Amino acid sequence: MQLLDGKKVSEAILAGIAETVSQRKQEGKKTPHLAAILVGGDPASQTYVASKVKTCEQIGFGSTLLRLGEETSEPELLAHIAAFNADPEIDGILVQLPLPRHIAEEKVINAISPEKDVDGFHPISLGRMVLGLPTFISATPNGIMMMLEHYNIDTTGKHCVVIGRSNIVGTPMSVLLSRNSNPGNCTVTLCHSKTRDLKALCLQADIIVAAIGRPNYVTADMVKEGAIVIDVGINRIEDSSKKSGFRLVGDVDFDQVAEKCSYITPVPGGVGKMTICALMNNTLLAVKDK
Ligand code: GUN
Repeated sequence: MQLLDGKKVSEAILAGIAETVSQRKQEGKKTPHLAAILVGGDPASQTYVASKVKTCEQIGFGSTLLRLGEETSEPELLAHIAAFNADPEIDGILVQLPLPRHIAEEKVINAISPEKDVDGFHPISLGRMVLGLPTFISATPNGIMMMLEHYNIDTTGKHCVVIGRSNIVGTPMSVLLSRNSNPGNCTVTLCHSKTRDLKALCLQADIIVAAIGRPNYVTADMVKEGAIVIDVGINRIEDSSKKSGFRLVGDVDFDQVAEKCSYITPVPGGVGKMTICALMNNTLLAVKDK
């Protein structure tokens, strides 16, 4: 079994982006700038956003972090997005999800200018991705593609089972893996909560992408010998032995499954790191040179 080391791969890619930024600065070109909006106090979201902003600093990007209270109204949030859309200093905008219940996610995503939609969640970005046109591809699936590419994993003709059909991971992942590209050219089965006999489908899979948000859901009896397993889950499990009171586990029962795999991503240090890396790459692509 070989570990797909998201930490190592993302560090290598981020070093390349940092180098590009440094060159841009020497040439007097614009510094890429990411604006992140966090509404409410969800602890996991706070950690993710802090990590995105910290990465911006590490690679020489500018960043703006707007923290808004849980009670922020939808019109207030939309007004902040409109201001960021109009600000030429800001190249990329992300609104961390999930949002409080009184705010319609769809309205918020639609309000971000597609030219600054570095999360790739806007219908225009998703539509362009499905058509294979240049666009921002959402960070988690894009990060997974970068990881498969980095390890030179041959995906052509493989059967890939994606578990979870979210707009931000499962659905775009299924499209990217099935299109005529490298990595890609897989035969994809997109599974979800109504799928019958998930285990039988997983046992046919050469590649499993687990994105269901349930700790240790994919167990060793569901995995074919030699399969490639990509774990998108980042679940917090109570653990009194930790200072934080929790530990992170994926959607895959790593210890048992790892023994059967050819490749597997760890949690933490796998897909999560690649998500941030892909987001930074999108932000660099978003910069418009005059
Ligand atoms: N919530 C979970 N994943 C993501 C992501 O990639 N971007 C944003 N904005 N919110 C998320």
